[in-house]
Amino acid sequence: MKDLLRLRTSLTEDIEKALNDQIKMEAEASAMYLAMSSWCDRNGFDFSAGYFKNQSDEEREHMLRLFKYVSDMGGRAVSPDITGVQVEFESFRSVFEQALQQEISVTQSFNRMADKCQKAKDYVTFTFLQWFLKEQIEEEYVARRALELFEIIGEEGTGHYEIDKRVPKIKYEDTYEG
Ligand SMILES: [Fe+2]
Ligand SMILES: [Fe+2]
Repeated sequence: MKDLLRLRTSLTEDIEKALNDQIKMEAEASAMYLAMSSWCDRNGFDFSAGYFKNQSDEEREHMLRLFKYVSDMGGRAVSPDITGVQVEFESFRSVFEQALQQEISVTQSFNRMADKCQKAKDYVTFTFLQWFLKEQIEEEYVARRALELFEIIGEEGTGHYEIDKRVPKIKYEDTYEG
């Protein structure tokens, strides 16, 4: 039966697996951002808590975008099993360091997938991935800018308070006119 279904889709098992792995990675990112939101909230960083909650929602949307694609292509989209979500973080700064590291890992993952699609001549999925590759410019930019606030403002005195206030105001514009 599985083989018969497979005939009805141009999605190879290899690419389908890569897409499902990415679905899981987005779900993990969503769970991690929600954990960061909770940590920020518990430690008095209300603006950052809201920022991470929004990030968490966005990652879930990314997950669903991939999920829908696999389903639409006749593949088997797998609802991921997420366990072992981090609860505690070392410091306010370490939360943002980890967030940036996570975004860089996601970009690298999409790059590997795009490479895989090209090698398999799966230009349908390759084209689908363009949205995510572009999105990662913004994701990395915002995460990097947030972390830079720690250098620009400094962590002494009311530094953390000022950083917290500025975090949700970071905006990415893809032209100089924006
Ligand atoms: Fe994402
Ligand atoms: Fe992201």
